Amino acid sequence: MEVIETIDALRKARARFGQLGLVPTMGYLHEGHLSLVRLARADCTATAASIFVNPTQFSPHEDLSRYPRDLERDLSLLRAEGVDLVFVPSVAEMYPEDFATYVEVGGVTEMLEGAARPVHFRGVATIVCKLFTIIQPDRAYFGQKDAQQTIVVRKMARDLNLPVEVVVGPTVREPDGLAMSSRNAYLTSEQREAAPVLYQALTTTQRRYANGERDGEALRATLRDVLASEPLAEPEYVSAADPLTLRELDIIGSNGVLLSLAVRIGLTRLIDNILIET
Ligand code: PAF
Repeated sequence: MEVIETIDALRKARARFGQLGLVPTMGYLHEGHLSLVRLARADCTATAASIFVNPTQFSPHEDLSRYPRDLERDLSLLRAEGVDLVFVPSVAEMYPEDFATYVEVGGVTEMLEGAARPVHFRGVATIVCKLFTIIQPDRAYFGQKDAQQTIVVRKMARDLNLPVEVVVGPTVREPDGLAMSSRNAYLTSEQREAAPVLYQALTTTQRRYANGERDGEALRATLRDVLASEPLAEPEYVSAADPLTLRELDIIGSNGVLLSLAVRIGLTRLIDNILIET
C-alpha cells in the first residue's frame, strides 16, 4: 500500500493504476468506511482511499479541532483491506494560502444539513471536486448515512461533467441500530445508551408508512414523538422529504420518502436516515 502526501506524487502514482475506486474519508475509520472499501475492491481493479479532515466543511463553532484522529490505526485497517493507494495530504497541500475557489451546489444544499450547517456543503463539494480532479477515480464510494451529501456530490459531478460514477453503500449499524459514525466516539456511556433512539424513531416511522400512512406531517410527528421519549435527545430537525429534491412532502407519492433527522445528545450532533423506495 502506497501512502502519499503530495499532489505531485499522487498524480505520478495514479498513472500506474488502471480502473480505480476511491473512498474519500476524514479518517478515524469504522466498519462503515471499511464496507465502502470492500465495495470498491469488488468493483474495481485498484482501490484508493483519502484521509483528510477538511477544514472548509466545518463552521467556526463546530468540532474541527476535536475531530477524532488516529492515522496509524487508519492505515493499518486500510492495509488489511488490501487498499493500493492512500492519499493523506496536509491542509497546506490542499488549501495553499492564496486558495480562493469554491464549488457551490444550488438547490439540494438549501435544506436539512445545509440549513443547519451553512458552509458545510460548499466545503464538501470543494474538497470532493479537488479529490476527483487530483485522484481521477473511475468510481467513488459514499455512505447512505450522509444521504444529502450523496445527492450533493452526484449533482456536482453531473453538473461539472466529472467522469466519476458515484456509488452509495448502505448505512452500517451497531447491533442496537446506532449508525456507525466517527462522532460516536464523543458519546459518554450514558449518551451512548440514549443514541439508538434515532434509529428507533426512523424504524417506528417506517412501520407507520408500511401500515399505509402517506401523510408527510404525520410521519414527521411520529419521528418527533419517538425522539421525545428520550430525555437526552434534543432534535434539531426531522424530515420526510422527496428523495430527489429533498423538499418536505405533504403526501408521499411514487418517489417514496427519505426519512431523516439530526439530534443533539449532549454536545454531539448525530444524523441518520432511512430511504423508503416504492
Ligand atoms: O463524509 C465524509 O467523511 C466527508 O464529508 C468527505 C466526503 C470525506 C469530504 O470531506
